[in-house]
Amino acid sequence: MEIIISQTYEQMSKSAAKVVAEVINQKPNAVLGLATGSTPLGLYKELIRMHKEEGLDFSHVTTFNLDEYVGLAADHPQSYHYFMWENLFKHINIPRENIHIPSGTARNYRAFCQWYEERIVQCGGIDLQVLGIGADGHIAFNEPGSSLGSRTRLKTLAEQTINDNARFFERKEDVPIYAITMGVGTILEAREIILLANGANKAEAVAAAIEGPVSSMITASALQMHPHVQIFLDEEAASKLKMRKYYDWIQEKKPGSPRS
Ligand code: PGA
Repeated sequence: MEIIISQTYEQMSKSAAKVVAEVINQKPNAVLGLATGSTPLGLYKELIRMHKEEGLDFSHVTTFNLDEYVGLAADHPQSYHYFMWENLFKHINIPRENIHIPSGTARNYRAFCQWYEERIVQCGGIDLQVLGIGADGHIAFNEPGSSLGSRTRLKTLAEQTINDNARFFERKEDVPIYAITMGVGTILEAREIILLANGANKAEAVAAAIEGPVSSMITASALQMHPHVQIFLDEEAASKLKMRKYYDWIQEKKPGSPRS
């Protein structure tokens, strides 16, 4: 695990965007796993800028989103379909048919989840997975107690997640209580993973995920088992890390680092 701490949210977003751009430049038909939420907004903004100003080309890229609320149609303003379209897809040159987001309105969820897993494999697997982290330590909607081997499935949201996400809805009662989410096992199969976190409300979950034991109570801790993970944090999200000095030292001494 590599821990990269930036002074600001903007710097954190730009450092993460460089990793995404590098993957696309090295493999123009890369398969990306994408996340929603407030955290990756800066990353998406930077990717849009790179597309418009530097010609970052998404025309052969395929994407798979992590999750979607059950019961929300694709055109619902709070759906993750809508979020992805507004905040990334409509601003870049990705073909519509290359975009995959779990359906919140499938007739048969079990069959849909199986199809989603198969489709990831058909497309060659995920080259780079982008993740946020919930205040309860979740990745995607893998709430505490989710099996670390779990696959794409229907999941009941935890109360903390419902409370955290209520800010996007008119009333708390409007927050869906079920979601379709990639499993922890699905996520761990990505060849490379980046997790982003900013803000003091993430500091405890971040510390538990990086420095705590691997546990289904903090599903992000499963990333400790993955061979190629980079964690991008701002100062606030990094504020509860015990080994902070060592992470900075590693970045300073990294071979090829301009600071070494
Ligand atoms: P946030 O959500 O980016 O809106 O904080 C992250 C998450 O719940 O995974």
